[in-house]
Amino acid sequence: MKIQFLGQSGFAINTSNTNKKDLQILIDPFLTGNSLTNLKAEDFSPDYIVLTHAHGDHYGDTEAIAKTSGAKVISNFEIVNYVATKGIEGHPMNPGGAWTFDFGKLKFVQAIHTSSFPDGTYGGVAMGVILEIEGKRIYHAGDTAYFSDMEYFGRQGLDLALLPIGDNFTMGIDDAVEAAALLKATSVVPIHYNTFGYIEQDPQLFKAAIEKQTESHCVILEPDEILTL
Ligand code: NI
Ligand code: MN
Repeated sequence: MKIQFLGQSGFAINTSNTNKKDLQILIDPFLTGNSLTNLKAEDFSPDYIVLTHAHGDHYGDTEAIAKTSGAKVISNFEIVNYVATKGIEGHPMNPGGAWTFDFGKLKFVQAIHTSSFPDGTYGGVAMGVILEIEGKRIYHAGDTAYFSDMEYFGRQGLDLALLPIGDNFTMGIDDAVEAAALLKATSVVPIHYNTFGYIEQDPQLFKAAIEKQTESHCVILEPDEILTL
């Protein structure tokens, strides 16, 4: 599968299902106003949009993309109810719950963070997500503080962990390295940094600490860069 980093916490995953139909899954598609990406809403025609929470730097261009593509929004109950009022179809879930979609299995997990829409509407709880696609397990932490239950996610085996390092709103580098030590993923990618003030970080410091203190390999993705997994 191909995983494109869109800057901040955004990713586009391209895979195909068992019937060899090409599928695209966007996670937290924040493009308009994202200083790190050159990609625009019209560059995507996803089948699904996965949202970790409702903050603007994650909800982003969801409405425009879902309206033109007909993509289904997969998120918590409150976010799916909110997009329904805009005529967008969704699949409601909540932390701890898993569902098997045509692209693979998706489980939402907890995140320590808040969740409200840019207009102030309550956005349910913030979440992380574990995806099982093509036999690979990917953990996208969403926006979160460090929490020790990550050890449980790691025990189940992870190929890739996408971890915020920006600090201020989420884990900073030190806590993200502690998180990676629990997750034991084959590869770790830093996210949620350098998009705007408050979250400026040097990802090379994260990479050096990961490779010194954990068994994981750290991959720093440039915005719009594609990782093949
Ligand atoms: Ni947030
Ligand atoms: Mn955020």
